[in-house]
Order: sequence, then C-alpha cells, then structure tokens
Amino acid sequence: MEKNYQTLGEFIINNQHDFKYSSGELSRLINSIRLAAKIVNHEVNKAGLVDILGAVGETNIQGEDQQKLDVYANEVFKSALVNREIVCGIASEEEEDFVTVHGKYHAHDNKYIVLIDPLDGSSNIDVNVSVGTIFSVYRRVTPLGMPVRKEDFLQKGNEQVAAGYIVYGTSTMLVYTTGNGVNGFTLNPAIGSFYLSHPNMKFPENGTIFSINQGNYAHFPQGVKDYIKYCQEEKEDRPYTYRYIGSMVSDFHRNMIKGGIYIYPSSSKSPNGKLRLLYECNPMAFLTEQAGGKATDGYKRILDIEPKELHERAPIFCGSKKMVEKAERFMQTSS
Ligand code: AHG
Ligand code: MN
Ligand code: MN
Ligand code: MN
Repeated sequence: MEKNYQTLGEFIINNQHDFKYSSGELSRLINSIRLAAKIVNHEVNKAGLVDILGAVGETNIQGEDQQKLDVYANEVFKSALVNREIVCGIASEEEEDFVTVHGKYHAHDNKYIVLIDPLDGSSNIDVNVSVGTIFSVYRRVTPLGMPVRKEDFLQKGNEQVAAGYIVYGTSTMLVYTTGNGVNGFTLNPAIGSFYLSHPNMKFPENGTIFSINQGNYAHFPQGVKDYIKYCQEEKEDRPYTYRYIGSMVSDFHRNMIKGGIYIYPSSSKSPNGKLRLLYECNPMAFLTEQAGGKATDGYKRILDIEPKELHERAPIFCGSKKMVEKAERFMQTSS
C-alpha cells in the first residue's frame, strides 16, 4: 500500500507555480507524456505475448534497424502530444524531420516543442532487459502564429524548460525536472498511477561505478583508456565496480541512485560517439546538473554545445561530479 505518496497528477498541480510562464501548458504537456508512458509500459510488459518483438525491416535516419517497439513508442508519444494539440512541434530520433503541430484554438499558438527518444535501449527489447524513453522540452523561438522552424529545435541544452525519462524496469518510473530539482515517480500498475517515490533525487558527489562499452576499447581515445585503467587499479577505493546495461536510461538511473559515471566517448570509428545530442545527451545532461552531477563531452559542458543538426551526435561523460572531473583530467592530459 502506498504511504502518503503524492500522485504525479497532484504533484504537477501543486508545483505549477514553479513554471516561469505558468499557463498550464507545460502541465498539460507533462500529463500527456505521463499518459503515453502508461500506454507504452502496458505494451512493453506484454512483449513476448503480443507481436511486438523484433525488427520492422526498416532503417531509421540514424542508420539503425528499427524495432517494432521503436515505431510503436514513437507513434504513441507523438499522437499523445499531437492529438492534444499542446505542442507546436516534435522531433524524434526515429524520424528524419520534425513535425509541425497546430494549436487547439489558432494555428501555431502553442509555446513548447518536444524532442524525443521514444524507445531507448532497442537492443535490450527482445531479451527482457530494461528499456526507456527520453524527452526534452523547449520554448519556441519562432514568434507565435508562425509554424516552427528548424531553429526552434536547434537550441542549446541550456535552454531546456523540462526534461525527463521513463524507465520500464523491474518497476516503471517517470523521472523529470522542470529546472527545480529532479523527482522520480513509480507506477503502481494495478491502479495505473505514478506516485512520488523518489523526491529530490541527487547524484552522490562521488561514486564507485563506471559504465562504458569496453568492447569498443581498441577505438577509444587515450584519455578514456587511461581512465578505464584508473578505475580498474587496486588503490584507495578502487577498483571500481563495472556495470553496463546498454540502455542509457537504465545505466544513468542506477548511477544517479548509487553514484557512478556513464561514458559514451568518441572513438576512431565514430568521432562524435553514438548518442544523439538532442534526444539523449541534452536531456540527460539537464537531469544530471539538476541532480547535482556533471555532464560534459570530456572537455566542455554538454548544455553549452551549439547544435547544428537535428540528429547530430556528441560524446558524453555524465554522473557523479568528482568522477566526471577525474575522467575529464585524463581526457585533457593524455595525448
Ligand atoms: P537507442 O536504442 O535509442 O538507439 O539508444 C541506444 C543507445 C543507448 O541506449 C545505449 O546506452 C547505447 O546506445 C548502447 O550502445 P552500445 O551497444 O554501442 O554500447
Ligand atoms: Mn535507436
Ligand atoms: Mn537512445
Ligand atoms: Mn531510441
């Protein structure tokens, strides 16, 4: 039985005054994401019983084989936001271009745009391992009354109004920030409500978990190789524990709770790493900073990067502040 937990619905109403330009629009937007999360959760839970596992036979703009759940989650989140006409545009990891959304009363009179990684951790779908969804919200820069343009989506992470993720794990959680700390809500599947189970989430300042795909070791920059060696050394509180799920959301979630660093670096094969700046790095960097952690590309703050393309990639080091600072020192001193 839930203790005296607030539901996410109650929390949104109680905290509406925190939003800088409170008109209820952002609250309605988060409510739509909450609804879509429940629908996707329901489908993820049935995976294996219904025909939702496996690939669709198409390649997305990222050059990846699209999974059925990638396509399903993309449709669910998109239609939850489009049908309610509460955003003016959406861009997704799964789609080449952004979509323009009309307002409820007048064309192009909504304030917010959303960027989304509908299903994070595609390679884990078929094997019953946690996957997630990541979202990022900005205020439009194109004046009201006009359709949104690419510039609305190519804002620095610093400009985010809200960001969050859903982790479809042993329990399903929705974790988000509107720039006033990070709060985590756990879904009670029996009644379909999210409850505030993790108020004011914070990365421990230091940690002992490192997460990076070491299969790519040969292609890593020297600084990353040296940092991995440092993590494995028998000295002080090391060797650190190594954990890598392969779903960024899940790896990040564990590290935020326990203390750790997540790295997806550049490599000789992909000079900007693999993760997408707009759909993955920026929202996770915003959450990281709001939870007292640090997120950089090894040299500079992720949230200060000026995006040039919708689907551009960036290396990322994020997590407990002291661990990220240590890794940065290796990046900056190793040749
Ligand atoms: P997505 O499933 O949205 O394409 O993202 C996959 C990402 C991320 O979730 C994960 O951390 C990373 O890819 C894993 O990549 P590797 O298999 O290269 O380690
Ligand atoms: Mn993908
Ligand atoms: Mn992803
Ligand atoms: Mn994805």
